[in-house]
Amino acid sequence: MDNILNTNINDHIPTEEPARQLYFMDKCHEIIEDYIARKGKSPSFHVATFGCQMNAHDSEKLIGILEKIGFKETDDEAKADFVIFNTCTVRENANQKLYGHLGALKKRKETNPDMLIGICGCMMQQPEIVDYIRDKYKFVDLVFGTFNFYKMAELLYTRLSEEKGQIIEVLAAPEKNVERLPEKRKYAFKSGVNIMYGCNNFCTYCIVPYVRGRERSRTPEDILNEVNQLADEGCVEIMLLGQNVNSYGVNFLQESEIINNNPDYDFPDLLEDVCKIDKIKRIRFMTSHPKDLSDKLIDVIARNPKIARHIHLPVQSGSSKILKAMNRRYTKEDYLALVDKIRAKLPDVSLTTDIMVGFPGETVEDIEDTIDVVKYAKYDQAFTFIYSIRTGTPAAKMEQLSPDFVNDNFNKVLEVVRETCATVSARFEGETKEVLVECENDHMDGYVTGRMDNNILVHFPGNKDLIGSFVTVKLDSAKGFYYIGHQVD
Ligand code: 5AD
Ligand code: SF4
Repeated sequence: MDNILNTNINDHIPTEEPARQLYFMDKCHEIIEDYIARKGKSPSFHVATFGCQMNAHDSEKLIGILEKIGFKETDDEAKADFVIFNTCTVRENANQKLYGHLGALKKRKETNPDMLIGICGCMMQQPEIVDYIRDKYKFVDLVFGTFNFYKMAELLYTRLSEEKGQIIEVLAAPEKNVERLPEKRKYAFKSGVNIMYGCNNFCTYCIVPYVRGRERSRTPEDILNEVNQLADEGCVEIMLLGQNVNSYGVNFLQESEIINNNPDYDFPDLLEDVCKIDKIKRIRFMTSHPKDLSDKLIDVIARNPKIARHIHLPVQSGSSKILKAMNRRYTKEDYLALVDKIRAKLPDVSLTTDIMVGFPGETVEDIEDTIDVVKYAKYDQAFTFIYSIRTGTPAAKMEQLSPDFVNDNFNKVLEVVRETCATVSARFEGETKEVLVECENDHMDGYVTGRMDNNILVHFPGNKDLIGSFVTVKLDSAKGFYYIGHQVD
């Protein structure tokens, strides 16, 4: 057999990573070759991703591993031989979505026992959910979590080589940070790059610190090597990813150890180093916690035109009382002062936010404070969520509000958000801006879709040869959350 990854599969099993996973990719590949010989075609796979940008990026890693093994990707979940769900658990409706999909797959699995189903991601970090899957969804083949998803090939090999039934491996905390595994990017010209994992903030409503673990930053060397490699492969836009990028560098993860080294290298330093990479033309980052956004960061953005004029700055609530109960560690006034400071130095910045309605104890007056902030901060976009109770978080033990009251408040906030954001995001009408063309337009023949550096989309006449290039467009008409324009260069 061709040895696809240059590891010697007859050797003993490596203990070091990533050699160990490369070994198991080879071993899985052997099994898949046998499958191809029997069936005359490669098995297909589909990764269904729920949740945030982090999960989307993790899925690119899963896809890279599966393609190395010999699976072929399909968009069609209903036909795939191997379906993996990369789950989210930030709100309860994300959990419900998974159960809906699993219900639909059960029948297929009964008629096609060769089919494989895997579940990974944040939801699997909750022991009671894993117990439920073990009990109620026995037909699921593989379950793994956020700390060991790099081990998919090893777990899959165990499932395929031993008649063992369900394989479940979920770790309570990260063991090591495994670099240099295959990755299949969705777009050739833009990519997410993890700069840190986990979160230490423990906002009282949030499950993330429990399912993603303590904050740990990748070393600047690892990050810059990855960005350099992406640049060499033709990538022009980078999105630096972390739950709270502003605390990058406080804890570095080296090998399997978290090293507390007082931060003499921080997120603005990293941004400046990424700016120095010539072939990278645009740099984004996500997400910024308002309590940690420094003057240094604003100055670095101001003096580097490559850094997108867009800051996602989740406010969650406009009420200082609710912010305190949420453990956000800023007040309404702190947040508004930060908005002023950012706008003074970055006049054309687009601010976007996350807002939560229905946190325990929230009154009509608190909602008025949130509406106030929406109007003052002039967001281009605001993602508005109904608070969802998460077992194990401090807020779950607080007295919960009635759903009717919360819904009324939510609709009030949503109305103001819609009006404000539509007006604000239309402010560039008539101007000329640079966009990075991402795709052909799904709805309008002969149109392509590009993204401005402030994250707003523009549809304009053009063909697919433009995909991946920067084009100057005139923004002819604002349509709420996007523009229609035409190319001017
Ligand atoms: N309920 C509703 N929304 C939540 N978020 C985080 N936890 C919850 C929860 N328990 C929202 C926050 C966060 C975004 C990613 O998800 O607004 O910024
Ligand atoms: Fe959750 Fe708060 Fe961490 Fe964001 S900062 S992931 S909301 S705990």
